[in-house]
Amino acid sequence: MAKKNTIYICSNCTYQVSKWTGKCPECGEWNSFEEQILERPNAKTATRKISKSEKPLLISEIDSHDQLRVKTGINEFDRVLGGGIVPGSLVLIGGEPGIGKSTLLTSVMGQLVANAPDRPILYVSGEESSGQIAQRMKRLKITGENFFIYHETNWQNIQEQIRVVKPAFIVLDSIQTTISSEIQSAPGTVSQVREVTYELMNEIKSRGMMSFVIGHITKDGSIAGPKILEHMVDTVIYFEGDQHGHYRVLRGIKNRFGSTNEVGVFEMTGEGLKEVPNPSQYFLDENLEKAYGRSLTCVVEGSRSIFVELQALVVSNHNGNGRRTTHGIDNNRLSMLIAVLEKYLGLSMSYSDVFLNVVGGIRLDSRESDLSIIASILSSYKTHPIEPSTVFVGEVGLTGEVRATPKMEMRLREMSQLNYRCLVTSKKVASEFDGKFPIKIIGIEKVTELENFL
Ligand code: TYD
Ligand code: MG
Repeated sequence: MAKKNTIYICSNCTYQVSKWTGKCPECGEWNSFEEQILERPNAKTATRKISKSEKPLLISEIDSHDQLRVKTGINEFDRVLGGGIVPGSLVLIGGEPGIGKSTLLTSVMGQLVANAPDRPILYVSGEESSGQIAQRMKRLKITGENFFIYHETNWQNIQEQIRVVKPAFIVLDSIQTTISSEIQSAPGTVSQVREVTYELMNEIKSRGMMSFVIGHITKDGSIAGPKILEHMVDTVIYFEGDQHGHYRVLRGIKNRFGSTNEVGVFEMTGEGLKEVPNPSQYFLDENLEKAYGRSLTCVVEGSRSIFVELQALVVSNHNGNGRRTTHGIDNNRLSMLIAVLEKYLGLSMSYSDVFLNVVGGIRLDSRESDLSIIASILSSYKTHPIEPSTVFVGEVGLTGEVRATPKMEMRLREMSQLNYRCLVTSKKVASEFDGKFPIKIIGIEKVTELENFL
């Protein structure tokens, strides 16, 4: 009997090996190899992907129609895309199951068809039946003449319907459930995801359609699809948030047509997603009580500044191997800041468990919140509350120095609008903005000076 001709592909980095192995020699990921049965090259598959070769063009010869963006009218969404949808583009929306990806795209499509009823929409769902989607649309109050729902997982069938419907916008929900019958692997595997995306891309680029692909990721981001997809598509946005909370944040990760530092904020309600145009007010609890372990910071996301509350809880751990648990902040950053606290403030933290939470579930990647993190930890450790109207903004270095962060003017403007009266920041920022806003700006050089605010 002839032996099956198989190879193994790493679902993380697509490295190939001929024998299965537990750890990828290329990217170091464990258990990431998937079996793929090699097809015998026949005339059909060998020629299928060779398209008409193009010749090099001068810039003046290139039609730049792709600069004309289509606005959806959902501002939070348009902003993350860089001002609207670019014709012929492929946008990947990634997120954990249940976060609201289908809801978001159904709303966006509903808005698009309401804006321009002559532009057909094809919503392909391999996950839910047409009935389920129709039910969601009813809940979202979408009634569109030209809105086609198609429950299908086979790519070849979808391709045929693209030719029939000739959609202006297409949604593929999700990439993990779509399979090409020309590939023998299971749905969601690297080769399937790659093949379907490649085929979809060809359709989009030749027709100038605007398309959205949904990709699931698990908590540890271990699903094969999206990581490979990210390299292939034009734009990658992540929809994140706490499933138990109501807020959702749309965040640009990659954008061939715009910047990636914008976020869109939504609230999940009984009638779908609502835009949150004023996130600062939304994330803050109006009746911020004077309690210990909490402080405020102001982060800048794209063109907006957002106020967030950071909460810390420090409790003793008698074993001396204190745990560090974070939500919304990198764990390593917390460990570093705790080390700074131990070194320069003389706290002994190894017998303490430290929990840190960004209230509202927004993720903070920047270092501008260091000062606020330390203030919250100190406040909980010493059981001294911090004045609720004080805002902390500044990066803390390894020698305990407090560094300036950019875009302070923007934050100060927002602070004065929201009636915050005291900012604790670096000395440099304090001297630069002293007297320019109706805010008391306290500049500190060393993290040790934070003790004065408790
Ligand atoms: P869904 O869009 O199906 O998530 P995903 O496609 O990312 O898996 O929606 C997930 C949750 O949103 C679901 O648990 C129900 C909730 N939801 C609302 O709260 N309000 C609504 O109007 C809709 C449509 C959904
Ligand atoms: Mg879904």
